[in-house]
Order: sequence, then structure tokens, then C-alpha cells
Amino acid sequence: MKSLVFATHNLHKTQEVKELLAGKYTVLNLTDIGCTTEIPETGTTFVENAGLKSKFVLENYQLDCFADDSGLEVEALNQEPGIYSARYSGGKGDLANLQLVLQKMEGISNRKARFKTVISLMQDGKEHLFEGVINGTLRTEPSGTSGFGYDPIFEPEGYAKTFAEMSMEEKNQISHRAQAMKKLIAFLRA
Ligand code: IMP
Repeated sequence: MKSLVFATHNLHKTQEVKELLAGKYTVLNLTDIGCTTEIPETGTTFVENAGLKSKFVLENYQLDCFADDSGLEVEALNQEPGIYSARYSGGKGDLANLQLVLQKMEGISNRKARFKTVISLMQDGKEHLFEGVINGTLRTEPSGTSGFGYDPIFEPEGYAKTFAEMSMEEKNQISHRAQAMKKLIAFLRA
């Protein structure tokens, strides 16, 4: 089986992606290749940040690699937190980030939000980009315990439950990351 590096330290994401690629690729993450560096995400878009990470691995480890950059975009907050999703509360963690979004959304009736993922694949020295989006709405309070990040407040369109009330398998059928990954997999098979 071929190996591919997924440029992340995040175990939740590694696990989700391993499931999506099971039987097709052996997915190694940054820890697996001995990379302990926190790769700087200094771009201003998801595309730039994903590219910074995949190119870092190629340049420093000479390995084919893909990297994703994802985040939550809330319509009434001018698409915030966006690329700042992981550090929205200034590094206080997932719960503080989620609470800040809820606080900023207090009294706002437009609850439309979406998760977006961009994947940058560096293969044979060339970059290929893949995008996934899932639309939904924000709850007024958290519900559910699975997943991570903003999952407890995000209800995907067409479902009466949050991402955090879904199993990983169910979320993997529809999520932004799964959609971008499906495009990546289709590309890798072609
Ligand atoms: P990353 O670029 O995929 O690491 O995502 C950046 C941040 O966006 C995460 O730290 C989370 O706060 C948020 N995020 C991305 N994907 C998800 C998801 O599937 N569920 C909940 N939050 C997410």
C-alpha cells in the first residue's frame, strides 16, 4: 500500500482521514515522520495556509504530502472565525472558541454558517487543490459530546442534530473534510 503524509498533529483529524482512506493508503501524520515543528499558518486564506503546510513537508522531508486548512464561516459575523477558527479566543481552546461564537451571535436571528476545507496536495512537485463545504446553522447552545471544535453548535442542513451528536461514521459521510477528501481520493485513483 502507498503512503502519504497528512501534515497535521491533530489526532481526531488523522483518525477521520485514516478511516476515509482505509485499505487504499497508509496515512502518516507529522508525528509519525518525526516532525515536531508547528508549521506556521501565516496565510490569509484557507488555500494559502494549506499550501504552506504541504510545501513545508515536501521541502523538509522530500515526501508527497497533503495538508488541509478548515474552519467555520458564520454569515452574520462576516465569515468569522474563518482561518482564525482554531485560535478565535486567543488560544484558550475549543470550548472558549465555541463560547465566543455563541456570545457574538446572541440576539442574531441569521444563524447560517458553513464549514469549509481546502486540501493542498503536493505530488511530484506540483500542487493540486480540493475544496469541501457543508452548510448549516448554529444552535444557541452546545449539544452532543463527540467530535471536536465547533461540532456541538453546528447543525448541518437537513439534519435535526449537531455534528457532535453524530457518530464519526455519520459525520464522515457529509462533512466538509470528507467532501474535500473524496475529491482528493478520486484524483489519486485517476
Ligand atoms: P483545521 O485547519 O482543520 O485544523 O481547523 C481549524 C479549526 O477549525 C479547528 O481547530 C476547529 O476549531 C475548526 N474546525 C475545523 N474542522 C472542524 C470540524 O469538523 N468540526 C469542528 N470544528 C472544526
